[in-house]
Amino acid sequence: MESSQVAIIGSGLIGCSWAMVFAAGGFKVKLYDIAQQQLTSALENIRKQMKEAEKSGFLKGALSAEQQLALISVCTDLKAAVEGATFIQECTPENLELKKKIFGQLDLIVDDSVILSSSTSCLLPSKLFTGLKHVKQCIVSHPVNPPYFVPLVEIVPHPETDPSTTERTYALMKKIGQSPVKLNREIEGFVLNRLQYAVISEAWRLVGEGVISPTDLDLVMSDGLGMRYAFIGPLETMHLNAEGVSNYCERYAEGMRLVLNTFGPVPEFSGETVQKVNQALSEKIPVVPKVLDARRKWRDECLTGLAKLKTQMKSD
Ligand code: NAI
Repeated sequence: MESSQVAIIGSGLIGCSWAMVFAAGGFKVKLYDIAQQQLTSALENIRKQMKEAEKSGFLKGALSAEQQLALISVCTDLKAAVEGATFIQECTPENLELKKKIFGQLDLIVDDSVILSSSTSCLLPSKLFTGLKHVKQCIVSHPVNPPYFVPLVEIVPHPETDPSTTERTYALMKKIGQSPVKLNREIEGFVLNRLQYAVISEAWRLVGEGVISPTDLDLVMSDGLGMRYAFIGPLETMHLNAEGVSNYCERYAEGMRLVLNTFGPVPEFSGETVQKVNQALSEKIPVVPKVLDARRKWRDECLTGLAKLKTQMKSD
């Protein structure tokens, strides 16, 4: 059984979000950063987000916002931050050398039971953890932004990670209400970004070849595929769109292969297509901080509503 204290290393966007998720799960959270001022604004930001969530009925967990806030404390001393924690979630900038330095420091001060977990979006565990004394306790727990409303966490072990580390991380993520998935081995992009890049890649080719406009391409996802994918994945889609997966393959394998064989090479993501996509998107959403922030706020409100709907519709 995990004791109920965690440490979060780095109090930016993702660190704050993890702090909120753990506090909602009733965990005591120590938030560490290099500058006191950053921690002060992180706490203000967390307070604001929690109060807003409480007001609109979207606060996670059984405790009130004040009770959850009382569980979070801040600290600029790494040793004090991890003291008593059974789980450490690293959320520093996506920079291999910096993260290696931090895990190297943690390696010297932790015991043999704490889990050292990284939020990295794309650095492989073998790059991050190789050579650490506590490598068996190291793992990647990759969240999706914003983790407070998008629950998926990709759990990616180092080849030397102890299976019990993976199991404990998985159980912990479940306990705090996230939706963990286990990768059996590391792979570039993990799984979420591999799927995302496959979609971006074909979207880019279709727009680049003039088959469809950028705005219509986005509608295909937001008003088409995406509505379904918010509830069922591509494999269950196959299962339901025929009399089971085997039947789907009998019916559609040839057609799918025919289409897939017409896919082009990996795009360069440069030149004319960048201009074309950028112009269309900038007309719709001008690249001005105020406008972008408003659109992001709207997106997060949509995700909040969707999270609520998914809870109501839960079937397993
Ligand atoms: P951020 O830039 O918002 O926050 C990074 C924080 O780390 C800052 O508060 C900074 O002061 C702090 N920091 C810098 N050096 C430090 C050190 N030596 N020790 C402790 N703290 C230090 O970055 P963000 O977006 O929160 O990303 C953090 C991690 O989460 C990255 O690895 C990123 O790839 C990953 N991630 C980010 C997602 C996103 O959408 N932003 C989604 C999923 C994962």
